[in-house]
Amino acid sequence: MNALTKQTRGPALIELEGIEKSFGSDRVLSGIDLEIRHGEIFTLLGGSGAGKSVMLKQMVGLLRPDAGRIRIGGRDVGCLPERDWIEVRKEIAYVFQGAALFDSLSVFENVAYGLREHLDLDENRIAARVAECLGAVGLEGIEARMPAELSGGMRKRVGVARAIALEPTAILYDEPTTGLDPANARRIGKLITSLRERLDVTSVVVTHDLDLCFLISDRVALLGAGHLLAVGTPTEIRASRVPEVRDFLSGDLDADGDFGSHNQGGEE
Ligand SMILES: Nc1ncnc2c1ncn2[C@@H]1O[C@H](COP(=O)(O)OP(=O)(O)O)[C@@H](O)[C@H]1O
Ligand SMILES: [Mg+2]
Repeated sequence: MNALTKQTRGPALIELEGIEKSFGSDRVLSGIDLEIRHGEIFTLLGGSGAGKSVMLKQMVGLLRPDAGRIRIGGRDVGCLPERDWIEVRKEIAYVFQGAALFDSLSVFENVAYGLREHLDLDENRIAARVAECLGAVGLEGIEARMPAELSGGMRKRVGVARAIALEPTAILYDEPTTGLDPANARRIGKLITSLRERLDVTSVVVTHDLDLCFLISDRVALLGAGHLLAVGTPTEIRASRVPEVRDFLSGDLDADGDFGSHNQGGEE
């Protein structure tokens, strides 16, 4: 592990070592080494198709690497059977791109879903927990609404409320602000930092929203051409002399070398 990947916050929570992943002849990740530490807000940047979602999905066992090791809380999760991943996902919550709520269920049932799956709580306690989680994302009292009645920003926040219901150690966010207007995007950024302050949640955020990235991150990595091109604090990344990093930050190129039509999620 090189000097740039040394950390400053708590002990390692999620460790990737030599991760490789291909789909057919398409080599997406070619040897990723990374430590995410307890309590940090870590942002993974990269152009469209760089492999950001693939990296996140590997951290919760939704995809398996072809080679390399993944440790969570020091435990090697490489050969865990699916039933043990269910336990891991109580600790490491994954907020899907697009929030992915169950459209046929009310907001209440969406947020209660994991509680019913994993915990044996009575209805009063479920209702109290749901109310608390909706309160944490600034959406008190919308339990009875259906997802179709919500704005995009509200849907994303309900997705976060569902993720925090099981009081996870970490939350992985896939493109949490894509498709949101700037005010809602800022609200999501504040939510991510407030969850760290209030619940000491570790956050891993995949995005191409540079404003969000530099607003919230303790550390940032840029993924491109199958590698982490740079890992460091926002200040270090901004000062980086790596050409791909400079190009990405100036919006000239996606990290994978393509001209990016997706930078900033079309919000500008
Ligand atoms: N389940 C899959 N099967 C086949 N190819 C996939 C799968 N998931 C991702 N890929 C491919 O891997 C590459 C990286 O995808 P992804 O991680 O989704 O990119 P992004 O950085 O935009 O999140 C893309 O070329 C994508 O087509
Ligand atoms: Mg993605």
